[in-house]
Amino acid sequence: MALKQEFNAIDAEFYQPAETFFTAHRGMALTYDDVTLATLYSEILPRDTQLDTQLAEGLSLNIPVMSADMDTVTEARMAIAMALNGGLGLIHYNMPEKQQLSEVSRVKNHVHGLIQDPIKVGPEQLIGEVLDMMEKRRFDFSTFPVVGADGRLAGLLSGHVVKPRYARRKVAEALTPRNQVHTIKQNELGANPIARADKFFTDHPGIHKLLVVDEEDRLRGLFTMSDVERITQERSAQFKLARDARFRLVCGAAVSATRNAFGDLDRDRILNHVGALVERGVDMVAVSTAHGYSKGVGDTVRMLRDAFPNLPLLAGNVTSAAGVEFLADCGANAIKVGQGPGSICTTRIVAGVGIPQLTALYACSRAAREKQVAIVADGGITKSGDIVKALTLAHAVICGGLFAGCPEAPGQMMEIGGKLYKQYRGMGSLAAMKSGSAARYGQPANGTQKVAPEGVEALKEVSPSTDRILAQLIGGIQSGMGYLGAVNLAQLREKARYIRVSSAGMREAAPHDVVEVKTGS
Ligand code: XMP
Repeated sequence: MALKQEFNAIDAEFYQPAETFFTAHRGMALTYDDVTLATLYSEILPRDTQLDTQLAEGLSLNIPVMSADMDTVTEARMAIAMALNGGLGLIHYNMPEKQQLSEVSRVKNHVHGLIQDPIKVGPEQLIGEVLDMMEKRRFDFSTFPVVGADGRLAGLLSGHVVKPRYARRKVAEALTPRNQVHTIKQNELGANPIARADKFFTDHPGIHKLLVVDEEDRLRGLFTMSDVERITQERSAQFKLARDARFRLVCGAAVSATRNAFGDLDRDRILNHVGALVERGVDMVAVSTAHGYSKGVGDTVRMLRDAFPNLPLLAGNVTSAAGVEFLADCGANAIKVGQGPGSICTTRIVAGVGIPQLTALYACSRAAREKQVAIVADGGITKSGDIVKALTLAHAVICGGLFAGCPEAPGQMMEIGGKLYKQYRGMGSLAAMKSGSAARYGQPANGTQKVAPEGVEALKEVSPSTDRILAQLIGGIQSGMGYLGAVNLAQLREKARYIRVSSAGMREAAPHDVVEVKTGS
């Protein structure tokens, strides 16, 4: 459609493209709620928009959303959910290196629809103990494979017998014995395990569980009919899974610029660990620190680029064009932008530094364009409209708080005053730094007396599944793109026209003068 129709001369006086707008506001740092985007002539329906984004040569996502490398947000379960929706999860590094490797392996080996590590019970346990476990861990299922002390499958404990009236009985007395349990050998799953399981359920009316075993009859997984049906129905979903060239789900992992006892960069340790991550098939390594425009981070990125020329590298965090240039020159493909915008961050209060997110993204985007690297907006996103605004300047966003309440985030739910919560803490909070993330904030790893925390420990109300949260976010992004007549993210970046919002305008933007009985979610 002709640009003339889109950009009217009168509108142009008010609604300005990024360069004019941010230059005109050069004395003031702006964030998402400070601006709004002008709508434009559109022939694009939201559902026809394309959200794929390239972060590095060989790494494209089908949606521009990543989950944060935080110990209350992303481990394997979250990373799997992200990749199944077309995005990417960054596994955090507040865990032993060996464990991070196995988290990455769990994502890379994930067979869609197959629960690879099902919750099992033992034949000697009492049914009452199983009921306690279900209540404590809030399981919403009640059928469990039974595995003997020798590691072999002993049977299936059906939900029909997991009842208080049988509490004093042993699992062994109530289970469906091994010879009546339907199983399939791992090596018979073939190239399309879901189709195989789907056929099994069609061929066996009334059977809702199919267990996967190996040659020694050890449990290797579990298909449930409801999962398989859901996945088969979702086949028509608009956004495809994010997969690597070998058809495995994509997965990222964060590392820090680890130092040895003498305070020098621990080159061997970092290189060995990243080498092991690469062996496991990691798709992106993020050198995640609070201050990316620094010698330690630059040296780490340069060292990784030399050792792994084709590995997609994300590095940060920065809020300046100089920081982007520096990390791009060191070899990063994508750069994280954000210092202090996060919902659990106190960097701006503690250290007095950091730039509100939209201005930071604009400055960084100019350098990124010249250096031909991607930028990722990290932190401060609380709603889909923020993502639309971020994507007018960045190639993807990283969200922590938005996913921390999901069942796929690490950590148990807790009940306070009748409401369910999950823990969400900054990686610069005292508790997280004690568990290992001190290096990210340039703080000593042991001895906490001198540590100045830059994050808080908080709670998030338990939220729906990552699938549902992402569906809402994606719906909002597509809607924004429809309003701007942008069919893809490149057009969104090109077409965005900004204007400042007054505080009265902010109030007008949210529901007002009504008694809200139901939110949009
Ligand atoms: P949201 O707003 O999505 O932010 O919850 C997540 C991002 O916040 C950053 N982060 C921190 N920043 N102190 C900080 O100043 C912290 O303790 C902290 N922990 C995480 C990080 O970039 C994350 O992706």
